[in-house]
Amino acid sequence: MPSSNPAGSVADRAAAIAAVHAGREGPLLPVLHDVQAAFGHIPADAVPAIAAALNLSRAEVHGVVTFYHDFRTAPAGRRVVKLCRAEACQAAGGAAVAEALLARLGIGWGGTTADGAVTVEAVYCLGLCACAPAALVDGAPAGRLDAEALAAAVQA
Ligand code: FES
Repeated sequence: MPSSNPAGSVADRAAAIAAVHAGREGPLLPVLHDVQAAFGHIPADAVPAIAAALNLSRAEVHGVVTFYHDFRTAPAGRRVVKLCRAEACQAAGGAAVAEALLARLGIGWGGTTADGAVTVEAVYCLGLCACAPAALVDGAPAGRLDAEALAAAVQA
């Protein structure tokens, strides 16, 4: 959850977060996780501040942000649905379940509805393979999904 709105610019706050981790080995991922926890996503203005604090290029920071699915570059919806797209869920009909949800919401993978209500993200195995197709809805596991069950879980 994003924090309240303490004083300071995005860059200043990101730099302060980076400074906390600067002495660690491999500080970039912990910094990005903390920045996302603070803002709900990685704001564009945070990237140069993080890069400067960790003596990295902006491209290096941007590359890591865009490589990992867990990092967002825009705020998420009020409800976040993480749908598994790995093998066991695909074999159990997960693709059709996902496409039905995306079509109903009118968004693509990684998208957020225009009203900011729902974000749908892809994940690759939640460890719930025995209950495929599986998802996390606001962090709560949901399994053996069909289109109707997923729609109900998203609206609950
Ligand atoms: S493959 Fe979907 S939970 Fe493992």
